[in-house]
Amino acid sequence: MKFCLFLGCVAVSILAVASGHTFNSTLDEDWKSWKSHYEKQYTQDEESYRRMVWEDNMRYIRQHNLEHSMGKHTFTVGMNQYGDLTTEEFNELMNGFFQDEADNSTEEDDDKGDGYDEDVDDLESDEFEESDDVMKHAIIDWRQRGLVTPVKNQGPCGSCWAFSVTGAIEGQWAKICKRLVSLSEQNLLDCDRRNYGCNGGYKIYAFQYVIKNGIQSEKAYPYKQNRCKFRKDKIAARIKAIKKVRRGEQNLAKVLKNRGPIAVSLNSHPRSFHLYKQGVYSDPKCTQRRGHAVLVVGFGREDGMNYWLVKNSWGTRWGEKGFIKIAKDRGNLCGIANYAVYPKVTRRMCKTLASSNST
Ligand SMILES: *[C@@H]1O[C@H](CO)[C@@H](O)[C@H](O)[C@H]1NC(C)=O
Ligand SMILES: *[C@@H]1O[C@H](CO)[C@@H](O)[C@H](O)[C@H]1NC(C)=O
Repeated sequence: MKFCLFLGCVAVSILAVASGHTFNSTLDEDWKSWKSHYEKQYTQDEESYRRMVWEDNMRYIRQHNLEHSMGKHTFTVGMNQYGDLTTEEFNELMNGFFQDEADNSTEEDDDKGDGYDEDVDDLESDEFEESDDVMKHAIIDWRQRGLVTPVKNQGPCGSCWAFSVTGAIEGQWAKICKRLVSLSEQNLLDCDRRNYGCNGGYKIYAFQYVIKNGIQSEKAYPYKQNRCKFRKDKIAARIKAIKKVRRGEQNLAKVLKNRGPIAVSLNSHPRSFHLYKQGVYSDPKCTQRRGHAVLVVGFGREDGMNYWLVKNSWGTRWGEKGFIKIAKDRGNLCGIANYAVYPKVTRRMCKTLASSNST
C-alpha cells in the first residue's frame, strides 16, 4: 500500500529533525486524547515526528481561527483525523484524480463511437429557461430530495474518483428510478481495469465501465476487497451515457438545479481544505489546479456569500459532517466548474433491473 511505503520513507528522513524537537507540554493532554479519539498508534520513533506535525497543524488552526474571529476569513478550520499529516503527505495520500486527455475533452467533442454517447448537456430546451435572476436566488439541496446517500470514507486510498462517480450515479438512479441505492466503489476499484484503484483514476473511465457492465450495490459489494468479484446477476444500477457540463459556474448551477448531483473535480491541496471545519470556504490559495474528485449536491447562500454544497468522501468527522461549502461565483474557486459530469439514466433501465431483481 502506498500509505505504508510513504510513511516508511518519511520516517527515515524526518527522525533526525524530530528528535531534537521540544514539544509544547501544555498540549500533552490534547495530543493524548486526539490519539485515542482517532485510534492512532505509532511506533516510538514515528510518534515524535507525528507529534511535531500535529503541533504545527494545531498552531495553524489556532492562528486561522483567531483571524476568523477578527473577520479575516469566512470559514473555520479544526483538528480532525488528518491532523498528523503534513499538507504534502495528505495530498500524496488522498488525491487520486488524474487529469489528462480523457478528462480534458472540450464541449465540442461529440460521440466517441463505441456507443459512448458522451455529449454535453446544453439545457437549451424551454424546460430549462431560467432567468439569471431566478438562478441568483435559487437554493438547491438534493439531500433533502432524497438523491444523496450518507457520506462515505475513502480511507488512506486515492479512490476519490470512484466515490465521485458512484455519487453521481446514485443521484440519477434515485431521480429517474425513484430508488436511492448506495453503490459500490469497490466494484469500480477492483474491476475497472483502465483505472488504478487506490493509486487514482479517471471518472470518465469509471462511467464507461458502468455503461458497459452496470454496477453493484455497496451492500452486495462492500468497500475493501481486492479482486474483482463483480456478479452480473447482482447489478444495482446501470447508466446509458455520460453528460458533460459546459465549463463555468452558471452552467454548473443550471444543470445541477435541473438534473441533480454532479461529479466534479477540484483542487483540494491547501492545508485549509484538509482541516476545513465550517463556513463558506474561500481560501484564495485554492487555485484551479485539480486533484480531487467530489460530488456537488446543491448550492445556497450563507452570511451573504453564495456557496456550492459539496459532498466529500473523507468521512463525517471532516468538515460539516462530511460536507464542505465552497464559495460560489468567486471566480470559479478551486476550479469547481471546470470539469463536471453526470450520467444519463433512462426509465427503461430502471424497469429492466427491477424485473431481474437486484441488490
Ligand atoms: C502551547 O500551546 C498552548 C495551547 O494551545 C498555547 O496557548 C501556547 O501559546 C503554546 N506555547 C508555545 C510556546 O507555542
Ligand atoms: C486541457 O484544456 C485546456 C483548456 O481548454 C487546454 O488549455 C489544455 O491544453 C488541455 N490539455 C490537454 C492535455 O489537452
